[in-house]
Amino acid sequence: MLEARHFPAATKDSMVSAPPADARKKVTVPEVRSRKVGGPPLAMVTAYDYTMARLADEAGVDMVLVGDSLGMVVQGHANTLPVTVDDICYHGRAVARGVAHAHVVGDLPFMSYQISPLRALESAGRLVKDGAFESVKMEGGKEIAAHIARVVKAGIPVMGHVGLEPQRVHSLGGFKVQGRGKDDATRIVVDARAVEAAGAYALVLEAIPPDLAEEITRALSIPTIGIGAGAHCDGQVLVCTDLLGMTRGSAPPRFVKRYAETGETIVEAMRRYVGDVQSGAFPGPEHAFKPNEPIGADAPIHRPATRARASGLQ
Ligand code: KIV
Repeated sequence: MLEARHFPAATKDSMVSAPPADARKKVTVPEVRSRKVGGPPLAMVTAYDYTMARLADEAGVDMVLVGDSLGMVVQGHANTLPVTVDDICYHGRAVARGVAHAHVVGDLPFMSYQISPLRALESAGRLVKDGAFESVKMEGGKEIAAHIARVVKAGIPVMGHVGLEPQRVHSLGGFKVQGRGKDDATRIVVDARAVEAAGAYALVLEAIPPDLAEEITRALSIPTIGIGAGAHCDGQVLVCTDLLGMTRGSAPPRFVKRYAETGETIVEAMRRYVGDVQSGAFPGPEHAFKPNEPIGADAPIHRPATRARASGLQ
């Protein structure tokens, strides 16, 4: 059995926080690869906009993924299939502007890479040129090995993704745990090896039994990043809204650890705002400009607080 990949500094209770943002170096693909053999497990999180990306980067995540989960989390679809390359690029540009240290990965959406290796290369190229991504992620195993190899050959790093492949939701009959039977487990091992042989620099393992994730992690020379795959991977990834407790409607999957109940906090804050507006308690005199106060051309009107801060305005 592999030891659960928890280093002393990152105890289960997460008592130790990441180093200050300025002390950290940019996380590159070689750095990600090197974490297979040393350093703490990789922490990846999804983000879809500037503000969330900036907060995640400040918190010390190693990688930010603009996942096609944005189809569900941001766009409200039932699955990831409607997401386009344009969607991923739009969110990628926003995320890249918020990140100074983390590596920024973009998901290649459904039907943007499955058709042919050349199509995969064109789509990956779009993500790098138009989406400001530093690497791309593709779901699939040996059937897309040639597609991965073509993209890697052009100098674009690829992260693989096997196990539960959400883009196959209709063939799978839902988002279900994979690799439970012997044959299915063998298929996933074969796929993982094919993705590595094609030149991927890391591999997401989604919703598979921990012992299978452990076997794959041992077998590969590239880091594995688990989501619902147990503690023996070389890193972990979660969807930001899940870990922040923002998900409404249905319960999040069992593998999600909620680090906050931000959804409740937001609803409560909005309720108080509505109440204050309705009662006239907001805005107060402190929120209004004084009659003779000059308003400069670059006064912080309709600007995000971060930009106002950067330009020295309060
Ligand atoms: O789309 C996504 O967010 C993902 C992660 C959950 C791995 O693929």
